[in-house]
Amino acid sequence: MDQTRTDKPGTTKLIASPKCAAQLLRAGKLVAFGTETVYGLGADATNAQAVAGIYQAKGRPSFNPLICHYACAEAAFAHVRPNALAEKLAAKFWPGPLTLVLPRRADCPVSQLAGAGLPTLAVRVPAHPIAHEMLGLAGLPIAAPSANRSGRVSPTRAAHVLADLQGRIAAVLESGACAVGLESTVLDLSGEAPVLLRPGFVTREMLEAEIGPLSTAATPGAKPVAPGMLASHYAPSLPVRLNIAAPAPDEAYLAFGPAPAGGLMFQLSETRNLTQAAANLFEGLHWLDEHATKRGLAVIAAAPIPSTGLGLAINDRLSRAAAPRG
Ligand code: TXA
Ligand code: MG
Repeated sequence: MDQTRTDKPGTTKLIASPKCAAQLLRAGKLVAFGTETVYGLGADATNAQAVAGIYQAKGRPSFNPLICHYACAEAAFAHVRPNALAEKLAAKFWPGPLTLVLPRRADCPVSQLAGAGLPTLAVRVPAHPIAHEMLGLAGLPIAAPSANRSGRVSPTRAAHVLADLQGRIAAVLESGACAVGLESTVLDLSGEAPVLLRPGFVTREMLEAEIGPLSTAATPGAKPVAPGMLASHYAPSLPVRLNIAAPAPDEAYLAFGPAPAGGLMFQLSETRNLTQAAANLFEGLHWLDEHATKRGLAVIAAAPIPSTGLGLAINDRLSRAAAPRG
C-alpha cells in the first residue's frame, strides 16, 4: 500500500511506511527518520554520492564524521572491531541513545566521506521501533546527522524537519515525537582509555558503573579528539598546496576537471561536479598520500575548487589539510 501523503516531484514526501523509507534509502535517496534522540537525515553510508547529498541538503560548510545507524549490534560490529568494553556497553545500552567510536574493519564498506577519512567509525543502534524496522529492511548502514539545516536546532518532530528541509530531501518518515529530544552520548573506545566525546542521555555515571572511569576530551593525557574538530579529521601525511592549476613535476595532483597528463593524479570530478568531488575527496587524499609517498613525491597539489555549494565544505577540508601541522 502506498502511504505517501504528498506526491509532487521535487517536494519532500511525508511517508508512514518503513518499507518505503528503506526502498528510497537503497536507491541512494535522502530520508529523514525519527530516533529516540532526534530526527536523523539518513543516507546509505556505503554510497558516497548519497552521503555528499546529506551535506548538500544541510548546507553544512564542513565534513564532520557521521554516525552510522544499524538495526542490531551484530550488524554494527560487522563493520567495526569491538573490544570487551564495547561488547559490554552494547549489551547494556543498545538499542538506545549511545554511540560508540571504534576502529573500522579492513573490509568496512562505509564510504570514506561518511567517516571523514578517519580510521574509526561511530556506530549506534537506535531504540525507536520505526527506525529499527526501517534499518532492518534497508539492510545497510545508514549515515545520519540531525535532520536540520546547518546552524539550526535539531528536530524532534516530522513537522520540524519538513519546515527546515522541504524540497531538499526525498522523504520524511513519520515517527512521532522523539522521546529523548537530545543527541546520543558519544563514547570513543578506539584508544587506550575510553573518552566521553559528547555527553547525552546515557550519563557518565551510567557508563562508569559498567566500565569504570572515563576521560573527557579535555582531560590532560586524553586523546586530543573533540567532535567535529580539526584534530579529529584525517590529514594526509604529505604537505598540501592549494589552488594549483598547474602542478610542478614533483607534485602529486588532486584534480578537479581537465588536468595535465603524465604525473600522479587523482581526479575528483572530470566534469567539475561538486557532489561527485565531495564523494571522492577523502578517497583521493588517502590514495594520493599512499601513492605519492611510494613514488618519492613530497607534495600534494590541489586544484582550485569554486566556493559555492558543496565547494565550501571541500575547501574547508582542503584548507585544514594544508594548514601547518602542530
Ligand atoms: O542522537 C544522535 O546521535 C543523532 C541521531 C540522528 O542519531 N545523530 C547525531 O549525529 O547527532 P551528528 O552527525 O550531529 O553528530 C555526530 C557526532 C559528532 O559530534 C561527531 O564529531 C562525532 O559524532 N563522531 C562521528 N564519528 C566520529 C569519529 N570517528 N570519531 C570521533 N567522533 C565522531
Ligand atoms: Mg547536529
